[in-house]
Amino acid sequence: MNLDFIYKRRSVRKFKPEPVSDALLDEIMKAAMAAPSGRNHQPWEFIIVRDEKARHGIAKNHANAQMAKESPVVIAVLGKKDEKWHVHDCAAATENILLAAANLGLGAVWCGMDEERQRPIKELRDVPDGYWIFSLIPLGFAAETPPPRTNYKPEKVHWERF
Ligand SMILES: Cc1cc2nc3c(=O)[nH]c(=O)nc-3n(C[C@H](O)[C@H](O)[C@H](O)COP(=O)(O)O)c2cc1C
Repeated sequence: MNLDFIYKRRSVRKFKPEPVSDALLDEIMKAAMAAPSGRNHQPWEFIIVRDEKARHGIAKNHANAQMAKESPVVIAVLGKKDEKWHVHDCAAATENILLAAANLGLGAVWCGMDEERQRPIKELRDVPDGYWIFSLIPLGFAAETPPPRTNYKPEKVHWERF
């Protein structure tokens, strides 16, 4: 069984300046919305940010997302806060985006969002009340290629009982 499509997804933090086409981003959005979803409510929204000033604004407000200045695109994954499973659903959609990007020849990295980073970045991108920015994903053609791998550790796997 060939699962290389999973192992080749690595965090990419260095990007070429080449733009990413709408067609590729559409494919990535289709993959995002193929994710499983609690009760199938799909409480997600996505903002595709190309604007350079906005990307710099994101980086200014997220110390661990400095690559947003260089990546030609940042995808923000938003969850509807009053939906029970929005965090889980957004995590599944985020992983699908990363897998799709890796398999379309792009690089990307999942940047987590916490409470204190919400307000300035929400204001920057007109995110309405009731939504939470779950993740930010700087994305583009990779200027580094971390090797495929798994972090498999057999001792993490408990058969039948812990
Ligand atoms: C919830 C979460 C938050 C993360 N936040 C950041 C981040 O803010 N900045 C960053 O550079 N990487 C971030 N990462 C990427 C991890 O550092 C990375 O997945 C981990 O080191 C394993 O490397 P790999 O993705 O290449 O397998 C995050 C990953 C997850 C799942």
